[in-house]
Amino acid sequence: MKITKENIYEFDKIYRANLINSLAGFKSANLIGTISTGGKTNLAVFNSVIHVGANPPLIGFLMRPVTVERHTYMNIKETGYFTINHINLKIYKSSHQTSARYDRDISEFDQCGLTEEFIKSVKAPYVKESNIKIGLKFVEEVEIKSNGTILIVGEIIELIVPDGIIGSDGYADIENAGSIAISGLDGYHQTKKITRLTYAKPGIQLTEF
Ligand SMILES: Cc1cc2nc3c(=O)[nH]c(=O)nc-3n(C[C@H](O)[C@H](O)[C@H](O)COP(=O)(O)O)c2cc1C
Repeated sequence: MKITKENIYEFDKIYRANLINSLAGFKSANLIGTISTGGKTNLAVFNSVIHVGANPPLIGFLMRPVTVERHTYMNIKETGYFTINHINLKIYKSSHQTSARYDRDISEFDQCGLTEEFIKSVKAPYVKESNIKIGLKFVEEVEIKSNGTILIVGEIIELIVPDGIIGSDGYADIENAGSIAISGLDGYHQTKKITRLTYAKPGIQLTEF
């Protein structure tokens, strides 16, 4: 089966969104927690979280165009902080429900049965039920001109992870921490690691460990 660009433009909106969203592969499953200056918390599921750089430690995610009210975006711009919380097997359904369009004065924490957790250093709520939690300070936004999407970049302020998850070389075993993955906009996956491989150098045989 071959699908052309013309075919893609002719597809029904939902069909096209499902198809194109599936093509980027397995993605991380995260909840982004924020709070307004008025003190109302907000939580939403995002599958576009990416590593931006380790020094300074930066993580980003893509925000859909702000042509309609986007509470996560508004709160980050108001307070300058957000949290990224890995989704796990116990919370994937409640996490998915956070994508529903709730009014700004309604918190997805209450509506979806998830628990807010605050730590002084970050002005945004963590998700208690999540095992890997990252607190970030907003540093930059970059507009993707072709479609109005915005790359939001944050600097890591703190990490909250269970004991034993970070190895002696710094590798965080997120599978062991129960983190799951997303395909498309509604497929949730458990992962099964194949191996780790040594740092690749020309002419040197890779080994598994
Ligand atoms: C699996 C899944 C992944 C999503 N990923 C993103 C994303 O990466 N970026 C985005 O802007 N919206 C994404 N959304 C949509 C938001 O979750 C949705 O727009 C939500 O209502 C935003 O809430 P807010 O207005 O409270 O910020 C995703 C939805 C689902 C179901």
